[in-house]
Amino acid sequence: DKGGWSSFMAKEVSEEPEAVANTIRGRVRDGQVVVPELDGMDALFADISRIIVIACGTAAYAGAVGKYALEQWTRIPVDVELAHEFRYRDPVIGPDTLVVSISQSGETMDTLMAVKYARERGARTLSICNTQGATIPRESDAIVYTHAGPEVAVASTKAFVAQITALYLLALHVARVRGTVSSAEGEQHVRELEAVPEKISQILDREQARIEEFAGWMADTRSVLFLGRHVGYPIALEGALKLKEISYIHAEGFAAGELKHGPIALIEPGQPVFVIVPSPRESALIHSKVVSNIQEIRARGARVIAIAEEGDAAVLPFADEVLRIPLAGPLMEPLLAVVPLHIFAMGLATAKGLDVDQPRNLAKSVTVE
Ligand code: F6R
Repeated sequence: DKGGWSSFMAKEVSEEPEAVANTIRGRVRDGQVVVPELDGMDALFADISRIIVIACGTAAYAGAVGKYALEQWTRIPVDVELAHEFRYRDPVIGPDTLVVSISQSGETMDTLMAVKYARERGARTLSICNTQGATIPRESDAIVYTHAGPEVAVASTKAFVAQITALYLLALHVARVRGTVSSAEGEQHVRELEAVPEKISQILDREQARIEEFAGWMADTRSVLFLGRHVGYPIALEGALKLKEISYIHAEGFAAGELKHGPIALIEPGQPVFVIVPSPRESALIHSKVVSNIQEIRARGARVIAIAEEGDAAVLPFADEVLRIPLAGPLMEPLLAVVPLHIFAMGLATAKGLDVDQPRNLAKSVTVE
């Protein structure tokens, strides 16, 4: 039931705040993250020396965002790999390896086969999944469910923000067990994560209509580029994937630092480029580097659509559009910056008269390898 929305995707984007809030619920005790499903597994988390995150598509981009938090908070090295690449390259894994799979459906065959392979090789397996009782969690040693609610539209939206949330909860849980984050810091991160749903709601309230309007003007666009750096990089990839999936427009995401190593050759007058601008409060250095990327592409005629936090005036002289996201704590920006990109992809596909829920050639759950 679309509950009055024009599509399941529109409904599911509107549910992004609850997807985050419901995933956090019940997993915070006295200001610290305690995931009840991971009770009794402290020894497991104390023993591991590596984490490998495996997933496909949007879930893999959630994993790529989660890597920053997992490494920063747990100090355990993390690799993120596409599930279908992982098992065909004789990976170095064993009992000290925790393989974290991420899947909305819990039925993706590529991911399932990778989990089985990891188990056969002696690794520990933990599944982040949105579907109760699905195959992947049943094949895993531990489960952390995302509580995004059923996702019907083929393109994943609310599950993505729930997956990042679950990874942050996992990171804080493991960090507490290993003592790598103090309780004061842990409490601070929890507060910042708990503030995210309200901030997503603000973006939906303030920017959705405007984004849909300019997506409408761009219905004839043939190519859109997305740039991001640090945690903004996987968000750029997610923005590009969503656009190609539902609007059939060529779209590519790049690490902003790669521009001068090749992609800048693509910039010609009128080329739309979304740039996810990191918070200047988090790192003035990274922020200034991305602002100079914007200047470089603007000088070559790009049409720049910046996603920047409120009050960041440095982007104003160089951006054609600025989409604002509220100020948030460190590492929380991806949960906000992705929202305008989901709205944009949906707005553009709608403007082209396409069925946003059922894009051509795609299935919600990919149960073949
Ligand atoms: C993108 C999308 C796909 C899925 C991927 C993994 O919008 O929906 O890229 O994210 O097929 O699916 P799950 O999470 O069910 O394993």
